[in-house]
Amino acid sequence: MIKILAFAGSLREHSYNKRVLNIAVEGARKAGAEVTVIDLRDYPMPIFDHDDYAKGFDENAARFQDILNEHDGLLIASPEYNGSIPGGMKNAIDWASRPSPKYEKSVQVFKGKTAAIMSTSPGSFGGIRCLAHLRGILSIMFVSVLPVEIAVTFAQDKFDGDGAEMTDEKTKKVLEDLGASLVKMLEKTKGETTAANTSRI
Ligand code: FNR
Repeated sequence: MIKILAFAGSLREHSYNKRVLNIAVEGARKAGAEVTVIDLRDYPMPIFDHDDYAKGFDENAARFQDILNEHDGLLIASPEYNGSIPGGMKNAIDWASRPSPKYEKSVQVFKGKTAAIMSTSPGSFGGIRCLAHLRGILSIMFVSVLPVEIAVTFAQDKFDGDGAEMTDEKTKKVLEDLGASLVKMLEKTKGETTAANTSRI
């Protein structure tokens, strides 16, 4: 069975991105995948400092590496913070990308995975500017990112208050389709090693 790990770049409890992510998760589950949703709040890590890293690998970074390693695909919803991805998520990715006692090569737990990405914000751009950055970061770690990406605009108008219920059926369908597309792509490519996957490290 296809296994997908889903997480949002926002930590806050009523995050729009967490709610948007959960709709894509439902789409992936309906398409037959097993999806694990994690909250980066449960993986607090110090700001990456190479000197500290040299003294020992962070416990939560090791847990994050383990859970990444167990999955074939990634569903990520990220808010845009000042035109890019939130520093907390970038820090978690940076930690997980480093060699550790268990995963000895850099980017080992990312390499060969496939991801689908989305964003949302209360504004008219839906956080879209962070997606090119996220795509670039994932690509350099040999994660294939689906060409389709979704930016949900005016997030506050698409939910019933702080609840999880999305009131905009059109957006809901587009997000579910994104989750299902990731499953389809993973089914096609599972077990394949691309030329890019073998070219570095
Ligand atoms: C923001 N926000 C924001 N929004 C946007 O569309 N473009 C931006 O560049 C930024 N920059 C930014 C920086 C910082 C530090 C914060 C905290 C916020 C607003 C952001 O989109 C809004 O808070 C979303 O609701 C955040 O997503 P979650 O937490 O609801 O998932």
